[in-house]
Amino acid sequence: MSSLKYDTRYPGIADLKRRAKRRIPNFAYDYVNAGIDDEVGKQRNRQAFHEIELTPRYLTDVSSVDISTEIFGKRYDIPFGVPPVGLGNMMWPGAELALATAAQKANIPYILSTFSTTDLNEIARAAPDVCWFQLYMPNDIEVAKELIQNVKQAGFNALVITLDIPVGAKRNRELRNGLKLPFKLTPNIIWQSMIHPIWSIETLRHGQPDFVNVLKYRKDTNEGLAQFISSFTQAGVTLDRVKMVRDLWDGPLILKGIQDQRNVEESIDYGVDGIIVSNHGARQLDAGPTSIASLKQLPEYAHEKLTIMIDSGVRTGLDVVRAKALGAQMAFSGRSFFYGMGAMGKKGANQVIEIFRDEITRTLQQIGCLSFDEMDGSWLSE
Ligand SMILES: Cc1cc2nc3c(=O)[nH]c(=O)nc-3n(C[C@H](O)[C@H](O)[C@H](O)COP(=O)(O)O)c2cc1C
Repeated sequence: MSSLKYDTRYPGIADLKRRAKRRIPNFAYDYVNAGIDDEVGKQRNRQAFHEIELTPRYLTDVSSVDISTEIFGKRYDIPFGVPPVGLGNMMWPGAELALATAAQKANIPYILSTFSTTDLNEIARAAPDVCWFQLYMPNDIEVAKELIQNVKQAGFNALVITLDIPVGAKRNRELRNGLKLPFKLTPNIIWQSMIHPIWSIETLRHGQPDFVNVLKYRKDTNEGLAQFISSFTQAGVTLDRVKMVRDLWDGPLILKGIQDQRNVEESIDYGVDGIIVSNHGARQLDAGPTSIASLKQLPEYAHEKLTIMIDSGVRTGLDVVRAKALGAQMAFSGRSFFYGMGAMGKKGANQVIEIFRDEITRTLQQIGCLSFDEMDGSWLSE
């Protein structure tokens, strides 16, 4: 028997991805896996991590290492969390609650999307110490205020405004699959549901996923996903809206999707506490820089004034350590968690967390770094 705390038949995220592809309908798999245009950005995101070399240091006792990290005055057990992923329960029914529950148990951040499919109050009850809320800025300012008020009342610990969806993306795979909510029974959707009976039975048991936290603001149920996102959200979050949120929200405020230095400066000027350097998993702009390239270009003062986090292309614990060598205190991986859910159902949440816990720990031991806090650019090979 292995002493590892995860199922060693699926020891890496690539194993979970392969299994997820078999177990869930193509429209759910494509929704998570898709990039945009030629889908080259996804590979570039991975490649950028591959190119970061770390030089190991030996002659050190590494029998015990500390992988915890402190951000916004709270220590998390692993420097790795669950980023916002809309429509989570489509990948696996009940995925969002399972992920939030697992995140609370593991003491890692869980970020609930505006376009999530579980009531935000239920998530706040399941993950009271680690839940953050991600805001897609509603067009309608009164809707924005109401949503922030609901999030505050529910007890979320941090608020993340996502900047990098000024418009809903045109993803050809999603368009071809005809994905709409509630599901429209097209021949593809019927066929895919028939050949994935476990997913279908679970979906029937849980009820069809829908954007429950913003449902009451939706007027047209005939809209595809991209149209709904475009009609609900402000076409480009403006600085006056960031200021409005800052005035309404006393807790940690984070901007997600930052890549340009001007936006870093504006984040500081507008009293933001942290940024997630991200290109949205290369789902919005295939030509964008990788998040690693953007992280490398952050000026020194950004690290002094903001908590720096990263996502887009993180697939291993080694990547989390690589990102820390470049100054990111916390990393997130969107698709990994949803490959885990697709592959293993609710057990997938724990599987992904434990894979990353193990890989981060081993990487630090391997390079001779006794704590994640100490990990810095001095380990970089170049
Ligand atoms: C299927 C899917 C849905 C997503 N939905 C949201 C969302 O609702 N809000 C948001 O801020 N980011 C969303 N993201 C982006 C993730 O938060 C994260 O930035 C991205 O997944 C990181 O890239 P990775 O998947 O390569 O790890 C989504 C990503 C995926 C894959």
